[in-house]
Amino acid sequence: MEEFSGFYKLSVEERLEKVRKSAGLSDEEVQTLRDWGALKGDKADKMVENVIGAIHLPLGLATNFTINGKPVVVPMAVEEPSVIAAASRGAKQTLPEGFKAEADEPIMIGQIQVTGLEDVAEAQKNMALNKKEILSIAALHMKQHERYGCGVRDFEARIIDTDRGQMMIAEFYIAVGDAQGANMVNTVLENTAPTIAQLSGGRVRLRIVSNLATKRKVRASAVWKKEIIGEDTIEGVLDAYEFAKHDIYRCATHNKGIMNGIDAVAIATGNDWRSVEAGAHTYAALGHYKPLTKYYKNENGDLVGSIELPLALATVGPALNSSPTAKIALKIMGVKGSKELAMVMACVGLSNNFAALSALATEGIQKGHMELHARNIALYVGATADEAEKMAKIMGKERNFSLDFAKELLEKVRR
Ligand code: MEV
Repeated sequence: MEEFSGFYKLSVEERLEKVRKSAGLSDEEVQTLRDWGALKGDKADKMVENVIGAIHLPLGLATNFTINGKPVVVPMAVEEPSVIAAASRGAKQTLPEGFKAEADEPIMIGQIQVTGLEDVAEAQKNMALNKKEILSIAALHMKQHERYGCGVRDFEARIIDTDRGQMMIAEFYIAVGDAQGANMVNTVLENTAPTIAQLSGGRVRLRIVSNLATKRKVRASAVWKKEIIGEDTIEGVLDAYEFAKHDIYRCATHNKGIMNGIDAVAIATGNDWRSVEAGAHTYAALGHYKPLTKYYKNENGDLVGSIELPLALATVGPALNSSPTAKIALKIMGVKGSKELAMVMACVGLSNNFAALSALATEGIQKGHMELHARNIALYVGATADEAEKMAKIMGKERNFSLDFAKELLEKVRR
């Protein structure tokens, strides 16, 4: 942890050296990072269709995270300045205790839609009567994954009312281990669907995983001490939280700030961030749309923040295997599986949210944002990391972020 203090002041090469040592990266892995993780043409061409190139995002490290007593360095891939800095800042202010986190067993929900039923209630009854047989057929298609602790855990059939009449939705609950699970679940569904059709007498239509993974939730919390962040910040965060709770326009932005962190880790680790987004916002909308985080003041007057959301993530699987950078990101983080990755991501989301609220409720976010922006401009005109640091301060003071001013300043700084 200590070894990463002042990480932002180092040059890219110095940072690579530091992370090489701390994560035990091989020369080849360091070279992959140095090559900006370039997906070689043949690899990209095999991942998706009609490939003509690859698009790059900066990969940075969020520091200061201690999760369940263990220090974690968190790779984040994101185009927006301030997100990595905010995550690191929010985390720093939880120290020395850091974050606590826990995650459910990775169980995904798979759905089979059955239409055209003459007697929907009867079909549902048949599902219950034949549950054992249905489960054993489904289990056949999970055999090869059993050694990883995966398997079909349960099954039930629900009835929904629709504009095209009643339908039966047969749902499987499937433990998918360290995979995201969509492929595994969809395979089980497609192979079990004929039995469902036969037993129900209906027409099977959709057979697909649900991205609302409510059986695969993660929770994280942290305490921000009043001695560290000050009473005004605590009051400000609580006011900001109430705003989000009672105003859906604010709530969308509140949750966006959380997803800034969560998505950035999802992308860095080669995960399907669209399913993460779909799950998070739908979960937030259960009942009515609300913040994914909660805040209150404890008996000591400190701020307690928490987050809960479903996160369906992979630390194994094809997408990860084809991305060398994602594998390196997981190695840097040192997470053991999808549950641990989910815990890290929940902590990052909470940290980003706290950092955003505490800045917004006090000095505003533009100041920090513009300082980072100024550093980027300084680097763009050719400054070294040290020079950029000095220049950013002057540019901030002068409130001048133009390229011409940066060029002029660089000459002055060098003189
Ligand atoms: C910007 O990407 C995220 C914020 O708008 C989040 C928030 O308002 O809470 C700063």
